[in-house]
Amino acid sequence: MPNISTTYLGLQLKSPIIAASSGLTNSLEDIKAIEKAGAGAVVLKSLFEEEIVTEMERELHQMHSQNYLYPETMDYYDTFDVEGTLSDYLRLISDCKKEVGIPVIASVNCITAHNWPSYARNLEDAGARAIELNIYALPSDLERKGEEQEQVYFDVIEAVLKEVSIPVSIKISHYFSNLGEVITRLSKTGIAGLTLFNRFYSPDIDVDNLEVIPTHIFSQEHEYTMPLRWIAITSNRVDCHLAATTGIHDSRTIVKMLLAGAQVVQLASTLYKNGVETIQRYNHEIDQWMKKHDFKNLDDFRGSLSQSNAANPAGYLRVQFMKQFSQK
Ligand SMILES: Cc1cc2nc3c(=O)[nH]c(=O)nc-3n(C[C@H](O)[C@H](O)[C@H](O)COP(=O)(O)O)c2cc1C
Repeated sequence: MPNISTTYLGLQLKSPIIAASSGLTNSLEDIKAIEKAGAGAVVLKSLFEEEIVTEMERELHQMHSQNYLYPETMDYYDTFDVEGTLSDYLRLISDCKKEVGIPVIASVNCITAHNWPSYARNLEDAGARAIELNIYALPSDLERKGEEQEQVYFDVIEAVLKEVSIPVSIKISHYFSNLGEVITRLSKTGIAGLTLFNRFYSPDIDVDNLEVIPTHIFSQEHEYTMPLRWIAITSNRVDCHLAATTGIHDSRTIVKMLLAGAQVVQLASTLYKNGVETIQRYNHEIDQWMKKHDFKNLDDFRGSLSQSNAANPAGYLRVQFMKQFSQK
């Protein structure tokens, strides 16, 4: 029988399939269903830096306002019910610790290294087995230099690593001017993993109602090619694990990511569309594929088609359509 267990961020996982951070990983009941379906781990829905900072400021303000209270300021803080959000999040982690066997990875969506990193310790204390940091701010400041934008990643990592002893991974997008170099440099900071690539909320225009609306909440199947290429190019060259996410909608694509060098995959859209039970089928199909190819463990084939191992490494580097479509 093939063995589909794997390590990831120093954790032992019984499957390389992880339920990605999303609304599907926001309650104990849903997480138990994900575990039952056979996922190797779960990344919780992200807490947002703003939620953490607002709560910290409120606490600070409450301390300072015991003698002198500004009612308007307290009204302002009262409009954000973040107090509940943060304590609910910690409770979810500690409930998971008691009732869920698979590793539960906390997630924080952040855009600065200011103030909030000290909160990361609470996630560890509550029982999170690792923390995934989802770092990205749209570079909409047209004056800000690329290096400044990039530096935030290194500042956040340094600040968070000082606070926690559990493994930390970073979830990034592909929007860097020199992606491969940044991935390699990030991998040497002491993080345990990199998740490639995050997928964002995108705006569209509704021409009937003349308004800006969200579009394509879920990924399409062809979107896996971007993480596939970069996992293939960077695996064996980075100092941490790589997790693949975006556009992974079937077991064949999971196998492709492993062949490219991914340690694990993180799924969201297909679980929304097909239900979390589909993880069980994916595990079975990976198992069947391994049997067919006579692989006993994931390490027997992981990375065998990375750029450095593939018979045709240039295949990952080609970007122009030199021959295809050049003749009708
Ligand atoms: C509805 C929804 C909510 C999501 N929320 C988060 C989130 O809170 N934090 C995060 O890091 N990623 C979030 N994601 C991104 C997913 O974790 C995942 O990386 C992305 O959707 C690509 O995987 P997919 O193609 O399987 O959907 C969300 C995705 C969806 C569809």
